Amino acid sequence: MRIDIITVLPEMIQGFFNCSIMSRAQKKGLAKICIHNLRDYTLDKHKRVDDYPYGGCAGMVMQIEPIDRCISELKAERQYDEVLFMTPDGEQFDQRIANTLSLSQNLIVLCGHFKGIDYRIREHFITKEISIGDYVLTGGELAAAVIVDAIVRIIPGVISDEQSALSDSFQDNLLAPPVYTRPAEYKGWKVPDILLSGHEKNIRDWELEQALERTKRLRPDLLEEK
Ligand code: ADE
Repeated sequence: MRIDIITVLPEMIQGFFNCSIMSRAQKKGLAKICIHNLRDYTLDKHKRVDDYPYGGCAGMVMQIEPIDRCISELKAERQYDEVLFMTPDGEQFDQRIANTLSLSQNLIVLCGHFKGIDYRIREHFITKEISIGDYVLTGGELAAAVIVDAIVRIIPGVISDEQSALSDSFQDNLLAPPVYTRPAEYKGWKVPDILLSGHEKNIRDWELEQALERTKRLRPDLLEEK
């Protein structure tokens, strides 16, 4: 999968994609993450990519031209499944959307900044608008890093133990059961006996019971019919 991220602050997220599982996914050839500096696509001699809004309200608005030039250049090279725009008024991102997007071949992710982007970009280029939650960040970069992480980690082969991505919280609309590691007892706090029993079926039943109990207690909304 190839993901092209368009931003005015490439340095804000570059380091993130050079670390840990995101870096490994790229080295294994399972994901290619290309970060584009929007300022490289403006014809303005001062590299400006924003301007005052029509109508006289406060704040600056990202201009259509550099974004058009960047997206059009990418689209001339390959077909994209979606052109995503990170914005607090988009559809709320969740595991279901991550699962769907992880089946894509090519994605563009546009990070918003300033007061917003010229609305014509949203009307003519964007195919899906995504929010990571009901709060406003200073820009779309962290939100883009969040969704790309969630999408890439579930590409088969990215996490060595595939089972571990499948048993994540939210994959079955259930929170994950508790996990423990050695020592079996620490300061008198014990790992549940069942996990030391070696009895595979009883352990799986216990995990499901725990997952259900935690979901009922912490996120009852996940158990409601949708
Ligand atoms: N940009 C600013 N806030 C955001 C949010 N909550 N989700 C996605 N993009 C954003």
